[in-house]
Amino acid sequence: MYSVTVLRPTAASTCGAACTLKQAGNRVLIVGVYSTATRSQRTFMTWKKNRDETAKAVVPAARNNQSPGTRSLSSTRPRWIKDFFPKFETDKIVEVETAWKHPVYTEEQMRAISVAHREVRNWSDRVALMMVKLLRWGMDTVTGYKHPKKGKPLPPKFEMTEEKWLNRFLFLESVAGVPGMVGGMLRHLRSLRLMRRDNGWIESLLEEAYNERMHLLTFMKMAEPGWFMRLMVLGAQGVFFNAFFLSYLCSPRTCHRFVGYLEEEAVHTYTRAIEDLEAGKLPKWQNMEAPEIAVQYWNMLEGKPKMLDLPLYIRADEAKHPEVNHTMGNLNQKTDPNPYTIKFREPVNRPVPSKGTDIVKPTGWEREEVIV
Ligand SMILES: [Fe+2]
Ligand SMILES: [Fe+2]
Repeated sequence: MYSVTVLRPTAASTCGAACTLKQAGNRVLIVGVYSTATRSQRTFMTWKKNRDETAKAVVPAARNNQSPGTRSLSSTRPRWIKDFFPKFETDKIVEVETAWKHPVYTEEQMRAISVAHREVRNWSDRVALMMVKLLRWGMDTVTGYKHPKKGKPLPPKFEMTEEKWLNRFLFLESVAGVPGMVGGMLRHLRSLRLMRRDNGWIESLLEEAYNERMHLLTFMKMAEPGWFMRLMVLGAQGVFFNAFFLSYLCSPRTCHRFVGYLEEEAVHTYTRAIEDLEAGKLPKWQNMEAPEIAVQYWNMLEGKPKMLDLPLYIRADEAKHPEVNHTMGNLNQKTDPNPYTIKFREPVNRPVPSKGTDIVKPTGWEREEVIV
């Protein structure tokens, strides 16, 4: 029986170092360690060391900020919410331009966004709205969220904290990125299968999925979800993707209406987050800068890259989603062009759909207004 003494255990266990072994009695001594790590392994180790040092700096601050006796939906360790956004500097990666440039929003445009609802007009709309209400009820019940009613203060247990908001945003954004990708994918396959043009729908649908993923990535800069949250996201994605995929095959029109109603709820949620932030109920975010990913993606206005402004930008995005999806729900799925990607041959003297927030029509454009 031999026992092993490792003289430099860290190096030996992490960098794939080679060791010289010597036998001394019944002990094997590792007397020399020399690195055989490749250049890419060494780069990874440097990045890992930097990351760990950053995490160590974040832990105590985050621990101090956690309210005693609270437990969030996720079982993430206390360090999960960040007090600042460390930058990962490297000369190995060059950033490139995004394929979907985000339109620039003005402050007035973002402030003008309000909660809106498209009235139900037929059975398809009713089914879509019922599904959204059911999902919302399930989500609120599981996460202990309650939307305040006008003039009625919420009981303290339903007051939202930064951690609760982040849990909600992370989960919802991970789900919100699914429909655009499924719709875009199915229309893409249909175009290939039938060898026909798609009339510009795929681009808008994929752009919406990309936009939702950018929301998620922004929130990921602010928190590190734990295994429980990741498990919830995995389960939700598995169920939601397949359910939406099958539903889109059966009735794309109802699916767009469903997404329209779902996105109305997103505008609701971000409006409440803005109210909480502006009322000073989320003190940790009062003086924080917005993460760099957000500043670049939204091309945030000068002097505006603050956490206080971030929900304004995201809500403006969310306000376009019900508009686009309600409009798509009003169109002929097979023959109509996407009014958000077409260009008129001659200038038109009436408002037309746009990608920005210069014109927002949360209940969607009727078919007669856009197909002439
Ligand atoms: Fe979103
Ligand atoms: Fe959205």
